[in-house]
Amino acid sequence: MKIAISGKGGAGKSTIAANLLHCLMRNNVPTFAVDADPDANLGLVLGLDQEELAALPPLCDLQEVIIEKNAGGGAFVDLNPSIDDVLEEYVLPLGSIRFLKMGGIKQGGTACYCKESAFLNAVLTNVLLERPEAVVLDMSAGIEHLTRGTARGIRMMLVVVEPSRAAVTTALAVDRLAADLALPEVLFVGNKVRSEADQSYLRQSLPGERILAMLPFSEEVLERARLGGRPEMEDRYLLPGIEELYKQIGGGDQQAYA
Ligand SMILES: Nc1ncnc2c1ncn2[C@@H]1O[C@H](COP(=O)(O)OP(=O)(O)OP(=O)(O)O)[C@@H](O)[C@H]1O
Ligand SMILES: [Mg+2]
Repeated sequence: MKIAISGKGGAGKSTIAANLLHCLMRNNVPTFAVDADPDANLGLVLGLDQEELAALPPLCDLQEVIIEKNAGGGAFVDLNPSIDDVLEEYVLPLGSIRFLKMGGIKQGGTACYCKESAFLNAVLTNVLLERPEAVVLDMSAGIEHLTRGTARGIRMMLVVVEPSRAAVTTALAVDRLAADLALPEVLFVGNKVRSEADQSYLRQSLPGERILAMLPFSEEVLERARLGGRPEMEDRYLLPGIEELYKQIGGGDQQAYA
């Protein structure tokens, strides 16, 4: 299972990513949890330790570390062996999950920008196309870390939409970006749905046949976000929908291996 999650800021991407990741963890499926949103917050929503998260260097800063390790190799060192090291060293483990944080790419056509992008691309290529582990990518609406190359490794993109005009507009824009990258399957997930009216609003605004699920608004989710609690604590309102979503995206077919 290699899935990417996108959608408007605040729609619930990290909440849904974290809950799916906890499903994978409960099933003991080895998984990379990749925070690919420059405004990174998946780690916190997952329930990782705040200090450990702050101490974890984002991958965009590691390229220099690696070039240093290969001192003298210049800019053209083969990064592949180092990427395996990176996926061991620069991750935070949580059960069967390994969490990694990509960080924001600095803007502008500097040489540094090109090197960072090349390195992040190499890491994504590795986890999406070469490794057997499941991957959940928590992305911004810009899906800026994906290229046509890495998109080939993604089985499905979930676009999270809350019942608002702004969230729908962003979701449709993400859908167009995803089509440009030739992503094979782009499905919408309604979130924070409070009423029948919310449901029908989403059904009318989005391509109905591609709405995979509607998740309810839950006070418990909000409460937990305030307290910094872990998503695996039972959530009476959200959990059934998340488990159904997990099944629909093929979660039940995941093999748990050591
Ligand atoms: N189903 C839900 N019911 C109630 N609150 C929710 C639900 N889903 C998410 N939230 C709340 O909405 C807020 C935004 O959620 P989240 O951080 O998951 O969104 P995001 O799309 O990752 O945002 P960002 O773009 O800032 O990373 C959080 O406070 C979260 O607790
Ligand atoms: Mg987020």
